[in-house]
Amino acid sequence: MNVLILGSGGREHAFAWKVSQSSLCKKLLVAPGNAGTAQIGTNIEIGVNDFDKIKDLCLSEEIDLLIVGPEDPLVNGIYDFFQEDEKIQHITVIGPSKKGAQLEGSKEFSKEFMVKYGIPTAAYQSFTKDTLEEGNQFLETLSPPYVLKADGLAAGKGVLIPETLKEAKISLKEMLGDAKFGDASSKVVIEEHLKGIELSVFVLTDGISYKILPSAKDYKRIGEGDKGLNTGGMGAISPVPFADRFFIEKVEREIIKPTIKGLVEEDIDYKGFIFIGLMVENGNPKVIEYNVRMGDPETEVVIPRIKSDLLNLFRGIGNGSFSEIDFDISEEVAATVMMVSGGYPESYEKGKKMSGFEDVEDSLLFHSGTKNDGDKVVTNGGRVLAITSFGKDINEAVNKSFKNAEKINFEGKYYRKDIGFDL
Ligand code: AMP
Ligand code: GLY
Repeated sequence: MNVLILGSGGREHAFAWKVSQSSLCKKLLVAPGNAGTAQIGTNIEIGVNDFDKIKDLCLSEEIDLLIVGPEDPLVNGIYDFFQEDEKIQHITVIGPSKKGAQLEGSKEFSKEFMVKYGIPTAAYQSFTKDTLEEGNQFLETLSPPYVLKADGLAAGKGVLIPETLKEAKISLKEMLGDAKFGDASSKVVIEEHLKGIELSVFVLTDGISYKILPSAKDYKRIGEGDKGLNTGGMGAISPVPFADRFFIEKVEREIIKPTIKGLVEEDIDYKGFIFIGLMVENGNPKVIEYNVRMGDPETEVVIPRIKSDLLNLFRGIGNGSFSEIDFDISEEVAATVMMVSGGYPESYEKGKKMSGFEDVEDSLLFHSGTKNDGDKVVTNGGRVLAITSFGKDINEAVNKSFKNAEKINFEGKYYRKDIGFDL
């Protein structure tokens, strides 16, 4: 098969790494990709939202399968764009339809979906500019901290958790009245604050049947001890120790099955990943959010633990044999440690020369923000490189990654040395 992957992060490098191992893979393209994907496939300088150019590329390269990494093109309807065009509708697109992508693209849509299908989630109400006063009144009925979510996509920044009622009211006014997140906050979901431990569960589905992928926990804050500013993710561990077979069975019964049932009943075409963010208190999971793609850096620990041929599973999604394909997961623990640019998640410099790749032993390197500059690899983003290792337990796995992180050098490099500390 000829495969095109859309995106340029560690997630896409991990997909490329896995797909390239399949005997079914004839040609592998990544758009736009990074210095890591360039080692195993061909990078093409096309943006993930440039549907016309993506179509032309699919035709000229005779692509059979399109794997969509990030949420943006999904929310913008890339699946439907392919479905509606006779010339490219034979191509299997891994990612949901535009309607399905609303599970991530609209917080209100996803909350309504959860309520309708009896999926446990935080109590909520949504408000617009015209109902700002009602929003303030709703805030008064809640106890702190408060959770305010911009309805639309806001590059991962649309959730505010103010500590006091006063701050919450100011934030609500900024979001609705002053368009703090542009159009994305023309509607705001206010919800009950949940307590507990967060983890994520991932599902691959053809819209009818599904396979439960390994669970993972990511570390969102920049600082050790989970302090400081939010980032895209500084590391991840899979599996999550408390997510044992019984817990996952509960998640399957209470969340995954009703989610798939909802997709079927709402007539939503969904061939792709569902990322279910959970908050767990006393063993009871509630959904914080759906994402309609894999997580980054969660992919860098989840995908390496899949022993089965991922491309064969994707092919099965396209030809209807998905439910019959075996699916095996490694028992080993995987850990990934994200190396980032100095200053990230605030301003940082790019173009720093990287070295030490050849000294790395016993880890997988997934490039996040890198590019080739002549014969050198240079930094090209805030998150630069995910170092993934396996072990019999979390300690063994993370320690391999830490050791290799010492060997990789670039000016201003930083990584958290406590990934997995709380598990
Ligand atoms: P989201 O973008 O929906 O994942 O939210 C970002 C982060 O905010 C989550 O990873 C949680 O840590 C936190 N969060 C979101 N909703 C809630 C909630 N209802 N209760 C507690 N924390 C929440
Ligand atoms: N690591 C969180 C995300 O990909 O949304």
